[in-house]
Amino acid sequence: MRSGHKFKSLLVLFREGTARLHLLRHQAILRGLTLLTISAAWIVTAGHIELAFGNPGGITNIFQPLSQPAQEIKEVSLLVIAICTTIFLIVAGLLVYTIVRYRHRAGDEASEPPQIYGSNQIELAWTVLPILIVFVLILVTSRTIADIQNRKPAADAVHATVIGHQWWWEIRYPELGIITANELHVPASGNNNREPTFLKLESADVAHSFWVPQLAGKTDLIPNRENRMWIEPTQPGTYLGNCAEYCGTQHARMLIRVIVHPPGEFERWVAEQKPVATEDPGALEGRKVFFTNSCVSCHTVRGTSAQGVFGPDLTHLMSRETLASGATTNTPAMLRAWIRNPQQLKVGCLMPNMQMTEKEVDQIVAYLQTLK
Ligand code: CUA
Repeated sequence: MRSGHKFKSLLVLFREGTARLHLLRHQAILRGLTLLTISAAWIVTAGHIELAFGNPGGITNIFQPLSQPAQEIKEVSLLVIAICTTIFLIVAGLLVYTIVRYRHRAGDEASEPPQIYGSNQIELAWTVLPILIVFVLILVTSRTIADIQNRKPAADAVHATVIGHQWWWEIRYPELGIITANELHVPASGNNNREPTFLKLESADVAHSFWVPQLAGKTDLIPNRENRMWIEPTQPGTYLGNCAEYCGTQHARMLIRVIVHPPGEFERWVAEQKPVATEDPGALEGRKVFFTNSCVSCHTVRGTSAQGVFGPDLTHLMSRETLASGATTNTPAMLRAWIRNPQQLKVGCLMPNMQMTEKEVDQIVAYLQTLK
């Protein structure tokens, strides 16, 4: 008698427990669905929000490509997103329908739903359909990858080598005899005059990744390896990008700019960058400070004895828009702050605080400003 009573109350407990579990599971599924829907909605509307409110942070959007590989990548992405969204909506719709239609009702304990075992048709359908879908995705993706990788440079194409450093970009144009940093200059490609720029990507230390979202996908810069990519922007302007592979403390301030020149302008930029530094008699003091300090062991100023290669080439420093790999704009005040104590502007960067007097800093800034 007593044991029977005990068993009954155990049963009640068990039933309550499973009912609670059911409720919890439903809540978890619904929460998951809500999260997925919000994320999907965000991805779809992100581009429109940017159009409506402007872009104060200068964040670039992969859904607004302005160059060839990026355009092709966007088309494949949209196709993949469309297919996956359709699958998601069908699966989630069926799931919601089942949860609501077959939810636990009073009196359900008395009977068990009909049990069905094996259906060749259904099993065949849910095996073959996904295989077909995956094949469509493989074919479209591999065609795009092949298109991008097989692009051959024309005889007169511009070639540049981009070398990742902690935490800045060295940019060399071997055929033009130009070395610069952090700002890649390329010609715009016209309809009749296709001018893609071919990049060779290397690293001087750790792995980095070159990513300018509106121009192309990411390509890594790996030590002791040579990667290649190309870009073909059609609209002149400045395109922002950043290192997309964590590479240490200042990874977030390893910014890159691609400056796309309209026809004819690129040649003018090349002509300005080619000459060695001219000696300005007005900045002799600063020149002396620069050459007697260890600045020269890291930086090159072509045409002088400064031949260091650890830091950016300063021959035409004043022609650059930014300092410290895009960390700040290249104004006399910021240049001064940078030289006075680089560690304040970019904590952990490899340029040390040289402990110079305020006067020496002024003199060095005056000298650097002659490097046009
Ligand atoms: Cu270089 Cu992250």
